[in-house]
Amino acid sequence: MPSFKIETPSLSHLSHEDYINVYEPAEDSFLLLDALEDDLELLQQRRPVLCLEVGSGSGVVTTAIARTLGAEVFCLAIDINQAACSATNCTAKENGVKVDVINGDLVTPLRGVCAVDLLVFNPPYVPTPHCEVITSLEEPLTRAWAGGERGREVMDRLFPLLPEVLAPQGLFYMVAIENNDVPQIREVLSALGFQSHVVKQRRVRGEHLVVLRCQKHSDSLE
Ligand SMILES: C[S@@+](CC[C@H](N)C(=O)[O-])C[C@H]1O[C@@H](n2cnc3c(N)ncnc32)[C@H](O)[C@@H]1O
Repeated sequence: MPSFKIETPSLSHLSHEDYINVYEPAEDSFLLLDALEDDLELLQQRRPVLCLEVGSGSGVVTTAIARTLGAEVFCLAIDINQAACSATNCTAKENGVKVDVINGDLVTPLRGVCAVDLLVFNPPYVPTPHCEVITSLEEPLTRAWAGGERGREVMDRLFPLLPEVLAPQGLFYMVAIENNDVPQIREVLSALGFQSHVVKQRRVRGEHLVVLRCQKHSDSLE
């Protein structure tokens, strides 16, 4: 019987010290999980072979996906922060699932190699000065939220890579906030050959969070 629930993995192995360098799951992480849970029937129907989370942080999202979709799905996580990669590894192990973790930038390690069936990204989306995005190598936590101009600098680098990495029937879920200019993000995605919809949204402490679901224009979903 298919299950239509996504359970939040245990994170009890991560301590306050871990969260000095790794993004602690917050409302954005849980909104993404809620959006995936709403779409679980669709995800299971698509029978994904390869799932990738970019920017896995603590591993909460990728571990939840791996637990829900089962061992026949190959789960991969990429994070630019080595401490986040270690945390993702631990979270997967502690919750009894296999996730392969790569320390790298966006989807670069996969370019030209793999077609991703389910791609998820909770990016650094907070508008900040440009210098915070590029000078924060020694401050891994800043890289978790600092999004540069309009909060778009990191996600905007991923969009042009989507046509190359997403499978023809692949689905891409991404968190954004209103300040990122969601209508303009959708225009960018459309120009790249993707239709997108806001599938979940929530106002949290003055921030309007959304989750976008994208698929190729040629992929008739609804
Ligand atoms: C907002 S946190 C999300 C963490 C986790 N996915 C969650 O939802 O709780 C963003 C994550 O993206 C990672 N990140 C930032 N820039 C990246 C890049 N260029 N490539 C890969 N990961 C990146 C950060 O290190 C951080 O772990």
